[in-house]
Amino acid sequence: MKILAIETSCDETAIALLDINGPVESPDIKIVANTLLSQIALHEKYGGVYPNLAKREHIKNLPILLDKVLLEARLNDGVGQARTYNLTPNDIDYIAVTEGPGLEPALWTGITFAEELARKWSKPIIPVNHMEGHIWSILYEAHTNLQLPAVALLVSGGHTELVHIKDFGKYEILGRTRDDAVGEAFDKVARMLGLPYPGGPQISTLAEICRSKNQESIIKFPRPMIHSDNLNFSYSGLKTAVLYKLKELGEIDSDTKAEVARAFEDAAIDVLLSKTRTALKTHEVQTLIIAGGVSGNKHLRNEFENLIKDFPSIELKIPSPLLTTDNAIMIGIAAYVMTTQGRGIGDNKPIQARGNLELSSWAT
Ligand code: KG4
Ligand code: ZN
Repeated sequence: MKILAIETSCDETAIALLDINGPVESPDIKIVANTLLSQIALHEKYGGVYPNLAKREHIKNLPILLDKVLLEARLNDGVGQARTYNLTPNDIDYIAVTEGPGLEPALWTGITFAEELARKWSKPIIPVNHMEGHIWSILYEAHTNLQLPAVALLVSGGHTELVHIKDFGKYEILGRTRDDAVGEAFDKVARMLGLPYPGGPQISTLAEICRSKNQESIIKFPRPMIHSDNLNFSYSGLKTAVLYKLKELGEIDSDTKAEVARAFEDAAIDVLLSKTRTALKTHEVQTLIIAGGVSGNKHLRNEFENLIKDFPSIELKIPSPLLTTDNAIMIGIAAYVMTTQGRGIGDNKPIQARGNLELSSWAT
């Protein structure tokens, strides 16, 4: 099945063309073409994403990326390689587009673009939940044979959520952040340290420098809500604690900066570990999925690999680094999951951008 997938929920414009076949637990996913234009450089000077600026860029980028995808799909006929693809719009079965959650002005650009294409090419559209995209990005892994039920920890710039996945399309939110998302905390702390946006990878690099020196960190930050008897999170207090610490320290050298980054990362990830451990103890599942931009974090990956050793019957799935941050491939994969259930297709109703769209169970 050929799916053209479009993602514009935040600051990445992305279009991919995928050829996906086979069982939903272990699909055979071929990337015919994959394009992405990041607006990071543009938003960097503001220290965050400006919705109307993002919208303007998406509108400019979408036709450029589509041309690129169609050219690649046509040229990808294996010069020097096995002749695999020579696709035109005629061959596309579905157009998938992110309907939410995200920045509404940004979401609308993708939706409008997808609807125009669908009309022009007479193709059905599948509206996709961005967070479902993050979850099913793990299916891209070679030799996946996904066992459900699962617990998913979703960690991105807008979300920190524990989800019980009872089956494909059956989701129950177990807990979520009450204020800032963990990725947002990384970005804000990075800004306090004078590091460019997006801060996650920057903090991670600094923290690793400190860890490699093998010194016990003197700075310690609180682990908000770690002892609460629920699976919710809170990151705004941790962010404030870092702010106060930096005020107290005054001018700092690069070693101290790295130590602050490390102490923050330790605290932020400890809470994720503790809450996920509780979720795994209280839910009978076969898989732990971790997805979203922050799942690319090195310390997080190492620590969760350690944690899962305490649960020998549970398999840990984290997306390949290519798919941790926003992309269109994951939107195409989630659309494929939906097609296997007949979900979200065929009604051809106008799609609305839904900025606060929640993961919810599909009613059969
Ligand atoms: O999933 P994503 O690309 O976009 C949203 O849906 O929000 O996540 C972006 C977030 C940003 O906050 C970014 O700083 C964070 O993921 N991030 C990281 C790392 N790479 C990206 N945070 C910590 N460590 C990383 N290596
Ligand atoms: Zn995302």
